[in-house]
Amino acid sequence: MKKSSMISGFYKLRIEERAKVVKEFADLTNEEVETLRSTGALPLELADRMIENVVGAFPVPLGVAVNFLINGKDYLIPMAIEEPSVVAAASNAAKMARDGGGFHTSSTEPIMIGQVQAVKIKDPYGARMRIVGAKEEILKKANDQDPLLVSVGGGAIDLDAKVINTVAGQMLITELHVDCRDAMGPNAVNTMLEAVAPLIEKITGGRVYLRIISNLATERLARAWCAVPKEAVGGEAVVDGIVQAYAFAASDPYRAATHNKGILNGIIGAVMATCNDHRAVEAGAHAYAAKDGHYGSLSTWEKNENADLVGSIELPMAVGIVGGAVRTHPVAKVALKILGVGTASELGEVLAAVGLAQNLGALRALAAEGIQKGHMRLHARNIAIAAGATSDIVDNIVERMVQERKIRMDVAKELLDEYKKTGKI
Ligand code: MEV
Repeated sequence: MKKSSMISGFYKLRIEERAKVVKEFADLTNEEVETLRSTGALPLELADRMIENVVGAFPVPLGVAVNFLINGKDYLIPMAIEEPSVVAAASNAAKMARDGGGFHTSSTEPIMIGQVQAVKIKDPYGARMRIVGAKEEILKKANDQDPLLVSVGGGAIDLDAKVINTVAGQMLITELHVDCRDAMGPNAVNTMLEAVAPLIEKITGGRVYLRIISNLATERLARAWCAVPKEAVGGEAVVDGIVQAYAFAASDPYRAATHNKGILNGIIGAVMATCNDHRAVEAGAHAYAAKDGHYGSLSTWEKNENADLVGSIELPMAVGIVGGAVRTHPVAKVALKILGVGTASELGEVLAAVGLAQNLGALRALAAEGIQKGHMRLHARNIAIAAGATSDIVDNIVERMVQERKIRMDVAKELLDEYKKTGKI
């Protein structure tokens, strides 16, 4: 039977009921469900092997966004994130997009760029020609470092070189293009760069300093688009509002930073859940947002001939499903199973769709009722819990604060005192 990610009222279920739904959707074992439910699922010995100076682990809530239909396939999206409203907004937006057939995605091949910086070259332009001429020799040296990657169809596939003018004079930057297949890639790429550096010094007569992967992964792009019926977003006026919001972000970097932060709320939540390098994804996204010479929006929103909303996004997506922490972190392994992605490129495309959904959720709220309404209840809940409200009373305190539009710690404490004295609120 085809499994659907369209699960209405998922948020109303108890934690164990939600886990049961996810278990059935993703065919999880009992052990995998226990891993998900355990807030101490990362053994200290494993943590100690992952980074240095370990003193503990840092649990973050793991939620699951529902309703995602991407290229006709249903996905549940695990998200590790501390910010309230993100998972709910992604699920709501995915539902709106679903009404228009869901998200459609594509991607380039998973090619990362690695850079070798050569300085103090007498004839940088001549050296560039010699480097380009020695392409086959350099690629062979690079590929000799990683027969495994080559055996699965990846490896160094191309190179180019550019002369740049800097405050320290001219430099020749050789760029190696490496197909990383299902790996995120830094280890493979950096090893290749270090191996070819002596050859580059010999060919250029210069001195090599940096040999490092670039996070501006313009050869590893993921794309997603969706057409959302105007009825699903709340009518044509809301469509117009979202288009205006996009235009604002496209033209103003102050707004674009927040707009893109909203996109990354969703992407990074899912990137974190799979234990991929979220700093790399964010660096790539922001740099790509400035590719036209000014910092702008990563997404576009338009109104089509039916007055429906059409959204699109394209951004670098350096993520993997093998290697690194992705396959060692117990929760990340289960998160990948829940996602059900077969390749790193599929994961990248899903992440692009999640980013677009998150953006839609934020812009719809901003263009209609405002962002605070949705945030208020969750914010009130956090305040009530921080004030000391236990589970039997927390809902009543939240309700009172929301009704009175006074969501503050002192008000929560007053209500709690009232409850302690009188037994009711
Ligand atoms: C908050 O985490 C994200 C938003 O600010 C994004 C946006 O303004 O588009 C709501």
